[in-house]
Amino acid sequence: MNTPSTILDAIPRRLHLQPDHPLLITRKLIESRFPGYKAHNDLFPIVTTVQNFDSLGFPPDHVGRNRTDTYYLNKSTVLRTHTSAHQADTFRKNESEGYLISADVYRRDAIDRSHYPVFHQMEGARTWDRSQAEKEGKSLAQVIWEDVDKIPKHNVEVEDPNPTNHPERNPLQSTHSAEEVEAIAAHLKRSLEDMVITIFNAAKSATDSTADAEPLKIRWVEAYFPFTSPSWELEVFWQGDWLEVLGSGVVSQPILNNASVPNRVGWAFGLGLERIAMLLYSIPDIRLFWSKDKRFLSQFSETAPIKRFVAFSKYPACFKDVSFWLSKNEGASAAGGKGAAPIHPPATTPSDSAPSTIVPPAAPAPTTPSFHENDVMEIAREVCGDLVEDVRLVDEFQHPKTGRKSVCYRVNYRSLERTLTNEETNELHERLRTLLVERLGVELR
Ligand code: DAH
Repeated sequence: MNTPSTILDAIPRRLHLQPDHPLLITRKLIESRFPGYKAHNDLFPIVTTVQNFDSLGFPPDHVGRNRTDTYYLNKSTVLRTHTSAHQADTFRKNESEGYLISADVYRRDAIDRSHYPVFHQMEGARTWDRSQAEKEGKSLAQVIWEDVDKIPKHNVEVEDPNPTNHPERNPLQSTHSAEEVEAIAAHLKRSLEDMVITIFNAAKSATDSTADAEPLKIRWVEAYFPFTSPSWELEVFWQGDWLEVLGSGVVSQPILNNASVPNRVGWAFGLGLERIAMLLYSIPDIRLFWSKDKRFLSQFSETAPIKRFVAFSKYPACFKDVSFWLSKNEGASAAGGKGAAPIHPPATTPSDSAPSTIVPPAAPAPTTPSFHENDVMEIAREVCGDLVEDVRLVDEFQHPKTGRKSVCYRVNYRSLERTLTNEETNELHERLRTLLVERLGVELR
């Protein structure tokens, strides 16, 4: 068990179901572009490691399984780290050709304005029945192409330079023909383009004051997920940068086979709702979604057009540093700043194992290194709640003689709702220092 009660307290919040909440509005806007897809918005966040990892073909040593990255309730039960945890069960129920799943997901991660240990994702999938096509005297590809024609057309520029499959980089599964995957990929891309263009056009009209702003541009890039092949990410050119908005791909056939629907084939996608809502409304800090302050909540309405969020105030920030020696035998690799620390599975970590094989369940969670940055983050959350804006590694030092390693983290304290007093931040920082020693066995400098 590595799940603090502050995280469990988020379970009943269900922000994606709260009337007039920006996450609900964003969810509904996306749902509106998938007519006929059945929406599941009420799935319970506590799942098994089989649901979250094994059923999706995650290898036993995948970093996402680490206790530093995932909240465990016991060794085989976790808070879901992604909505994909419900794919297998939803395919098994086989209630609709297309489905959408929106839900809260949980990850141990950095603290900054775009990361929060609880956030919301939407998963979607569309499958077809091979035997049904046969009965109609058509090929599967033909049936899918007929459905492609029903997707609304757009005239936005799309960069898509890669072939639909590539033997090494983005392979076809042995269970699919190239023609079938062409059709599935076309349906996937056209459906997701339609949705993303709808959202970003809404975001543009909310943010651009001038009508002749830069036209929307999107592009497909090759990707890797343990549960799809071939796979792609969709990126949007937004305020000067290419921004990743979703992951997608052709569903690994073993997932469907193991879900007792071996005749079905199709595609799936997953995206983060906060990220999209932040763009839509220009919301500057992810903590705001959890605010119960009327000055935040009153700015959003399901019936009004989307308009830019007006920050009600920017209260002063106050940063304080904490430096400490890691316990004696921590090697140079132990601390890891941003980038050096293992990154959670946006599931993109390439693996040598064939993506189409399902790994047998019940692999134990791998042992974790004794110091991980995410443990510092967790303690900061526990002590400060939403009063911490970000925590960053600002210095690292290795003693030339003893080889001992020292790190310095800068903790930025700021409330989104009021000005913090000096006393209050001093007290928080003192508690943080004490807890770092107690929990991590580090030595303060
Ligand atoms: N589960 C992935 C994540 O959390 C997102 C995702 C990628 C979902 C590709 C999918 C998919 O269904 O096909 O990063």
